[in-house]
Amino acid sequence: MLENKFKSEFALKASEAFKTVYADKYKEIGDEQVFNSSFILDNIEKPKDSTKGRFAFPVFRHGKLLGDNPPSIASKITEAINSSDKNLISVSSIAGFINIQTDFNVEAAETISDVIKNDSNYGSSDIGNGKKILVEYSSPNIAKPFGVGHIRTTILGNSLRRIFLKLGYDTIGINYLGDWGTQFGKMIVAYKKWADPTLIDKETVSDLLALYVRFHEEAEENKSLEDEARDEFKKLESGDSENNALWEKFRKISIDEFSRVYDIMGIEFDWITGEAFLNDKMESTIDAFEKANLVSESDGATIVDLQDEQLPPVLLKKADGATLYLTRDLSGYLYRADKYKFDEMLYVVAVNQSVHFQQMFKALTMLEDAQSVPDDKRISTKGKHVDFGMIKFGDKMMSTRKGHIIFLEDVIKEAAKLAKEKIEEKTPDLENIDEIALQIGLGAIFYSQMSVRRQKDVNFRWEEVLSFEGETGPYLQYTHARLSSLMRNYKGTIDADIDFSLLDCPEEKRIVELVTDFKQAIADAARVYEPNMIANHLIELAAAFNKFYQRKDTEGRIDKIISDNTELTKARIVLVKAVQVVIKEGLYLLGIKAPEAM
Ligand code: ARG
Repeated sequence: MLENKFKSEFALKASEAFKTVYADKYKEIGDEQVFNSSFILDNIEKPKDSTKGRFAFPVFRHGKLLGDNPPSIASKITEAINSSDKNLISVSSIAGFINIQTDFNVEAAETISDVIKNDSNYGSSDIGNGKKILVEYSSPNIAKPFGVGHIRTTILGNSLRRIFLKLGYDTIGINYLGDWGTQFGKMIVAYKKWADPTLIDKETVSDLLALYVRFHEEAEENKSLEDEARDEFKKLESGDSENNALWEKFRKISIDEFSRVYDIMGIEFDWITGEAFLNDKMESTIDAFEKANLVSESDGATIVDLQDEQLPPVLLKKADGATLYLTRDLSGYLYRADKYKFDEMLYVVAVNQSVHFQQMFKALTMLEDAQSVPDDKRISTKGKHVDFGMIKFGDKMMSTRKGHIIFLEDVIKEAAKLAKEKIEEKTPDLENIDEIALQIGLGAIFYSQMSVRRQKDVNFRWEEVLSFEGETGPYLQYTHARLSSLMRNYKGTIDADIDFSLLDCPEEKRIVELVTDFKQAIADAARVYEPNMIANHLIELAAAFNKFYQRKDTEGRIDKIISDNTELTKARIVLVKAVQVVIKEGLYLLGIKAPEAM
C-alpha cells in the first residue's frame, strides 16, 4: 500500500476512535478487522460525490460486528475523530459513510514538491524491494508470423513488467516461444516437399506460413501427410540432424522477424527462451511425478489423473513417448522456481488456456502434497494465470492453418500511415514526422488493448484501434504535447515553493488530487494486474487538465495559464509541469511514447 499522509492519518485516528467508542467489542476481538489501522487504510474509497470529501470510508460491513447500525457508527466515529487533535484532516458523516476532507494547501504543497523533486521517479516506491516477480508474456509460436492474436499478451505483459519495476520489484520479463511441438513435423514435411529451391536460405516468415497453409490444404485430401508429420517430429525429437537443422532455420527466421517487430514496438524482455529449452529437463519432471506415485497409464500414455479435481488428466507422455505442451510448462515452472526463487510467476496468457493452467497448478500442488512440502516452502502457490479476454474479429475467427491472419506489422504500418496523414493536416512542418507518426500509431494500438479491463473480450475493429479522438492513446499523447508546448513558452523558473492558495478553482484542485492519486493508481494496477487502471487515471487527468486549459473567465475570455500575473503564472506552471510528468510517466508504464510536439 502506497502511503498517503491523509489516508494514513485517517486510518490511525479512526482506529483509535473505534477502540474507544466500541471498547467492549475491542476487548473481545483485539486489534483485528475494523480496529486495525491497516484494515481501515485498505478500505478507504473514493467518494461517489467528490464535493463531499476527498476520501470516504463506508461502515456498512461493521454493523453486525459492532452491534450498531451504520449511520450511528459513522456519526459516532466522526464525532470522536473531530474532537481529537486536529491535524491534516476533518471528517463528516452521512448515511453510513465517513467522508474525509483534506487541507488542500497541505496536499498541494506535498504532492507538487514530490513531483518536481522526483520527476519521472514520482510514484516509484520500494514496496517490491526484496521480492522477485517473473512476468511471462508475448510467447508467439515460431514458424508462424507475428499476428494480432499475440498483441494483447505482448502489450499487457510489457506494461506489467514496467509497473512492477516501478514499484521496486526485481522483475524478469520472459518470452516463452512456442518453438517445439507437432507443428514442426508438419513444417518439416511441407518444407521437404514444397520448399521453393530458388528461395533456399532467403525464406521469410511469410514463406513459412505459405508452407504451413499448404500442408493443411493438402492434408485435407491426403490423410497420410499427418502420419508423415508425426514421423518427422519423432525424428526431430530423437535428434535427427537434418530435421534439427531445419528446425534451427525456422527458429532463426522467426526470431529475427519477431525481434524486428519488438524493436519497432519498444517491447523488452529480460529472457527470451522457449519450449525446446526444456527438452532435456522433462525426464526429471516425469520422474518426480512417478516417485510421488501420481502417475498412471492410460492407453499406453503416462498421465496424472485429476478426476477428483474435475479437471482433465495431465498427459505427461503420449503412447509414442512424445511429450506435450503441459509437460513442458510443468518442467519450465520447476526450472524457473529453482533458478530464480521467485515470489510470483505470472503467465499473461489468453483465457482460453485457463484449463491448462489449472491443470498445471493443480498437478504441482499434488506433487508438493505428496512430498509433504511445508507451506512456507511451497512454490505451487506462487503461479498466477493473468488471463485476458479474446480478440474477436467480427464473425471471422482467425486461423493460422488457413492463413487467415492479420500481421501485427501491417497493423502498425497502417496506424502510422493514418497518424502521418493527420499530422500533415495539422502540423505539416513538424520535425521527425515519420518517427512521431509511428509513436502515435503505436499509441493508438497499445491504448486500444488497455482501454478495457483485461478479462473483457475485445473486438478488433480497425476504426477503433486507429481512433484518435475521445479516450485514446493519441488523445493522451496530444495532451502531453500541449503540456510540453506550454512549458516551452514559459520563460521563468520552476519552483514548487509557491503560494498554493492561488490555485483556488475547482479545476486546479481536481488536477492536484489526480496527480496525488497517480501513486494509488499504480499500486492498484499492480495489485490486480490491470494496466487499464493507469490508462483510466490518465484519461481523467488529461480531461481535467484540458478543462483547466480551456477555462474562460467571467467575461468569456480564455483564462490563460501564462499571464501578466507572475505569481499566479508561477503557481499554475508548476501544476502544468506536474501533469506533464505524470502523463509522460503513466504513458511509459503503458508502453507508449510521449512526443513533445505533434
Ligand atoms: N505459445 C503459446 C501460444 O501462442 C503461448 C504460451 C503461453 N505460455 C505458457 N507458459 N504456456 O498459444
